[in-house]
Amino acid sequence: MSKIDFTGRVAIITGAGGGLGRHHAIELAKRGAKVVINDLGGSKDGVGSSASAADHVVEEIKALGGEAVPNYDNVAIPEGGEHIVQTAIEAFGKIDILINNAGILLDSTFVKMDEKKWDVVVDVHLKGTFCVTKPAFLHMVKQSYGRIIMTTSGSGLFGNFGQTNYSSAKMGVVGLANVLKLEGAKYNIKTNVIAPIAGTRLTEDVVPPETFSRMKVDFVTPAVLYMCSEQCQDSGVIINAGLGYFSRSAIMTGEGVILSVGNKIPTPEEVMKNWSRITSLENARFFSNLGEMSSVLKK
Ligand code: NAI
Repeated sequence: MSKIDFTGRVAIITGAGGGLGRHHAIELAKRGAKVVINDLGGSKDGVGSSASAADHVVEEIKALGGEAVPNYDNVAIPEGGEHIVQTAIEAFGKIDILINNAGILLDSTFVKMDEKKWDVVVDVHLKGTFCVTKPAFLHMVKQSYGRIIMTTSGSGLFGNFGQTNYSSAKMGVVGLANVLKLEGAKYNIKTNVIAPIAGTRLTEDVVPPETFSRMKVDFVTPAVLYMCSEQCQDSGVIINAGLGYFSRSAIMTGEGVILSVGNKIPTPEEVMKNWSRITSLENARFFSNLGEMSSVLKK
């Protein structure tokens, strides 16, 4: 089995001042990567900012003999994303790996959801992923190499009460990965997605303490590191990881049913009559792009 080694690689990890991002960064650095530790340093609901979170992780990595520089920009604005990438170029000359990890939570039921709570969360998770990935992707295209990680959530993949803003943003990054896997293919840029399950400040209030203590971030990072490696040739894959469990989630499409041919338009009653066949996931298939899906209709 080949060893995963990041010697000579440069990585940006957003939101690396704590939680999962900190651990991804430390493990990348231990395996030779030069890392940019981005963190705005605010509260878990996105209030305030501080340099101390990023600085602390940089010191930890240096103490282990690794190379790291801090960055305190907000991922949610284009200038922030540009500056994060610029920090990597100025410090280390390039960017090979980007882990989009920064995140906040502002939960409320949909009845109480307002535009502000919606925008703040969507801005950090979805627009933030765009703002950093865009300038990073341009460098990766030029060097014909890149590994990008998006961080989604089971909340988006499966649904979770009280998180409409967060779930929507987290599915948005899946859509972004679905397209970047296609647009990055000829440049050897692989974009994959992690759906972590970990005990951090984001989950400490919602998980029973005995479970929380077992949900170590350490259990998520191995999947992230593999997807950041040269060895990983997959793109567009979503991996759930936590507590030693690893699995793939995917949007699958059922076999379906042809209700009419030619110009005959099926009636709503025919749809009703065939509902169980239409919604069946038996023999479901995975389509790697829209064209593959559309070709089914032409048959
Ligand atoms: P965390 O709160 O420990 O880490 C998130 C980091 O992002 C914080 O250090 C925070 O300061 C930083 N950050 C927030 N907004 C930022 C901004 N605008 N610009 C730069 N940095 C910013 O939480 P955790 O759990 O480590 O979360 C990491 C990622 O994993 C998030 O995207 C989260 O949504 C996702 N996630 C976590 C799960 C879990 O079980 N912990 C489950 C599913 C997804």
